[in-house]
Amino acid sequence: MAFRSEMDTGTPIRVADEQITLSIDGREVSVPKGTSVMAAAALIQAPIPKLCATDSLEAFGSCRLCLVEIEGRKGTPASCTTPAENGMVVHTQTDRLAKLRRGVMELYISDHPLDCLTCSANGDCELQTQAGVVGLRDVRYGYKGANHLDAPKDESNPYFTFEASKCIVCYRCVRACEEIQGTFALTVLGRGFESKISAGGTDFMSSECVSCGACVQACPTATLNEKSVIQHGAAERSVSTTCAYCGVGCSFTAEVKGDKVVRMIPEKSGKANEGHSCVKGRFAYGYATHKDRITKPMIRANIEDPWREVSWEEAIEHAASEFKRIQAKYGRDSIGAITSSRCTNEEVYVIQKLVRAGFGNNNVDTCARVCHSPTGYGLSQTYGTSAGTQTFKSVEKSDVILVIGANPTDAHPVFASRMKKRLRQGAKLIVVDPRQIDLVKSAHVEADYHLALRPGANVAIVNALSHVIVTNGWVDEAFVNERCDAANFESWARFMADEKHSPEAVFPHTGVDPLTVRKAAELYAKGGNAAIYYGLGVTEHSQGSTTVMAIANLAMATGNIGRDGVGVNPLRGQNNVQGSCDMGSFPHEFSGYRHVSDDATRDLFEQLWGRELSAAPGLRIPNMMDEAVDGAFKGLYVQGEDIAQSDPDTQHITAGLRAMECVVIQDLFLNETARYAHVFLPGASFLEKDGTFTNAERRINRVRKAIEPLAGKEEWEVTMDLSRALGYPMDYKHPSEIMDEIAATTPTFKGVSYKKLDELGSLQWPCNDAAPQGTPIMHVDRFVRGKGQFMLTEYVPTEERTGPLFPLLLTTGRILSQYNVGAQTRRTPNSRWHEEDVLELHPFDAENRGINDGDLVALQSRVGEISLRAKVSERMQPGVVYTTFHHPGIGANVVTTDNSDWATNCPEYKVTAVQVRRTNHYSDWQERDREEAVSLRRIAGLSTAAE
Ligand code: SF4
Ligand code: SF4
Ligand code: SF4
Ligand code: FES
Repeated sequence: MAFRSEMDTGTPIRVADEQITLSIDGREVSVPKGTSVMAAAALIQAPIPKLCATDSLEAFGSCRLCLVEIEGRKGTPASCTTPAENGMVVHTQTDRLAKLRRGVMELYISDHPLDCLTCSANGDCELQTQAGVVGLRDVRYGYKGANHLDAPKDESNPYFTFEASKCIVCYRCVRACEEIQGTFALTVLGRGFESKISAGGTDFMSSECVSCGACVQACPTATLNEKSVIQHGAAERSVSTTCAYCGVGCSFTAEVKGDKVVRMIPEKSGKANEGHSCVKGRFAYGYATHKDRITKPMIRANIEDPWREVSWEEAIEHAASEFKRIQAKYGRDSIGAITSSRCTNEEVYVIQKLVRAGFGNNNVDTCARVCHSPTGYGLSQTYGTSAGTQTFKSVEKSDVILVIGANPTDAHPVFASRMKKRLRQGAKLIVVDPRQIDLVKSAHVEADYHLALRPGANVAIVNALSHVIVTNGWVDEAFVNERCDAANFESWARFMADEKHSPEAVFPHTGVDPLTVRKAAELYAKGGNAAIYYGLGVTEHSQGSTTVMAIANLAMATGNIGRDGVGVNPLRGQNNVQGSCDMGSFPHEFSGYRHVSDDATRDLFEQLWGRELSAAPGLRIPNMMDEAVDGAFKGLYVQGEDIAQSDPDTQHITAGLRAMECVVIQDLFLNETARYAHVFLPGASFLEKDGTFTNAERRINRVRKAIEPLAGKEEWEVTMDLSRALGYPMDYKHPSEIMDEIAATTPTFKGVSYKKLDELGSLQWPCNDAAPQGTPIMHVDRFVRGKGQFMLTEYVPTEERTGPLFPLLLTTGRILSQYNVGAQTRRTPNSRWHEEDVLELHPFDAENRGINDGDLVALQSRVGEISLRAKVSERMQPGVVYTTFHHPGIGANVVTTDNSDWATNCPEYKVTAVQVRRTNHYSDWQERDREEAVSLRRIAGLSTAAE
């Protein structure tokens, strides 16, 4: 039995003010204008047989199974393509219709393999179901005529097969690829009987297909089917949960058989994804049961020693006694913890509670330090809250979309599909990015303006946009007068009007044609609803916080805040970056972004937690490493992060880790950081636990346990054990109780509970007495801080400069199939799309250096050197090179520097001056790293073959 339980109305239910009332089989039904007869019938539980229709797609009208009779109309129109009209009288079940439908079905079945009982889709096939519905018992023509039963199978994709013999050419897959995913990878070759579905004329793997699975989901037969279902059979039960990869936060139904997940189906009711997904969320979950999972706690006295498996009790006792010993010897502030944006809100909350109440200091930080900490700072300064302003759905109302420093098709693919849909409908697009990312030009989408700036010039370019708007009088004065601080606006407008901010004056820094900047500014200011989406290309700079504020200024000045279709939207990298920040992971803030020096907030927590709390902000991650190298920071608890791979200037990080006396790692795998650890506590994957994630739209989604934790415990339970062993017992029976405490202590979460989440599906904070159902759009009538605050954003070029020795600028990013440090995706077939990190460089730079595509090249910066393969690409601009950081053996962060954002210490990953040359060997660091990795895996009893 399968679990595609969400209702399929066949065609979309329209949104309209006007209601249409009609009669279907004697029952009256009202639907919004524009809704089809088919969907109206489905709403009164009178489904009409169908094959080519599904409600995630526009009606197509090809199969002719959904015929109906309408009084006063000739013939038998297709109900999927017929809009409901007032007073219509429709009959869906007559003898004439039954005969016609049986005839249609007969034709389909006469050219279909008759292997239903052994077919992997048995019980989950719409053709099979509809044959039963129309009462087909026999095929008059026999099965001997011309047919497609020998059509070839395409098994090239690692996750799904295409069994052409079962195809009924309903075009649902083609339309899903176009309408939902926006990739246009599928076509129909031939006509009539000869028509066949084709992936770019080749096979799926070598086509444009990005393996999102939308076509698989849309296919009504077993033609496109998951290999996991073919291999393991249909599921026995299902659990609704949330993707653990990126900040889009897609909702999925995990279908489970025994203790194995056999399929992930994106939920139509999921507000972040509305039934869509990407290759990671839908298919790349196999890491959860990968053979490399460590499921037994381990300890060792010295990082050169082999690991020793021990009981949970011994591991916890050892970690606690080490932390106590270190604090007794080096002082209370000598230990700390790092929370993870991959863990649940509840797990993060108990870690920061452990640090503040159990360790007695505020030395807690999170991986958001290295990605979106400038968002928190910049948006709270200007608007009063550290979060994006919109729902994802809001993009459907945008007229102009400005994407800056983000690559949504790779990093936030489901949102990118939504955005591309809006662009295909006619919204205008401005891309600000050094690279020619896919959005600049892809199937049916082309940016109106691509401002291909030099890395590091974000503030200059956003200031230039503001300069053009201010000096041309395009400021939305009504909005500014009503909503923003007047004096503050005046000084900002004067500042921006200065000629030094003009596109012409900043050209030497930005490298962008001033006229293009002027046109883009006009489009943004005067093109209707304008929305800004930005990513790590904005935050990971020495002026990351300044750029966030510059963006916020731009939106306020043009009145693009507080309604659908506009806003300032940080696209968060990891699944729970928003949540880990909300939960008090930063060393200076309790949950809800309240400063530790605020007496009232501290009082509240002191009362509840029964401990005196420090009013002094603790150490950030870079400070922890500095202090460790200096000998004053000696113990660290890291949950679900791999700072030895993800943080910049790897050699400094590893020096810090080496200098510590007790490093406790809690993770699924022995990651790079675990090389320097003394205690390893096994973690639980998202499939093995309960909790919540908060996505980039502030949406709190439930994570539900689909299988039991492989190591026997969820992370929050382990943290509780550690806290108890340290003498600070916590007593939660279930993560829902942790959420109750979060709600009781955090004003923006006051109305959140598991009960309400189960009822409503998800909630966007703030959720409290003023907004019991959550807040889709922020700052609607007033900014959270009261009046919007314009901040002066002086452009200060980064200290990282090119010169004769390092003439190129390196910028880093992500690709679609891999995720972050790759610990999860590298342990799935996703690696087939990206086996190694490569260096993209422009043909001009390649030719100058005698470099050909695929050559091994040395990438050298002022702090380190690595070798990797070259990819010569016109997507780069001359002088700029690009790589990803998904593979630890490559070590991209060996070359990034420790420059960081002035306000938050977020590292400047996006700008490193480098030189590139051909080489025939890997760097010393890489060779050393490889040897260490092999010996680590041998010690841990893991395979020593390269992953
Ligand atoms: S998997 Fe996605 S991208 Fe690939 S063909 Fe299907 S719909 Fe298109
Ligand atoms: S592969 Fe499936 S969805 Fe595509 S045309 Fe064939 S039956 Fe329809
Ligand atoms: S877009 Fe992000 S949240 Fe959605 S399925 Fe892909 S990785 Fe998961
Ligand atoms: S479902 Fe209406 S024509 Fe196919």
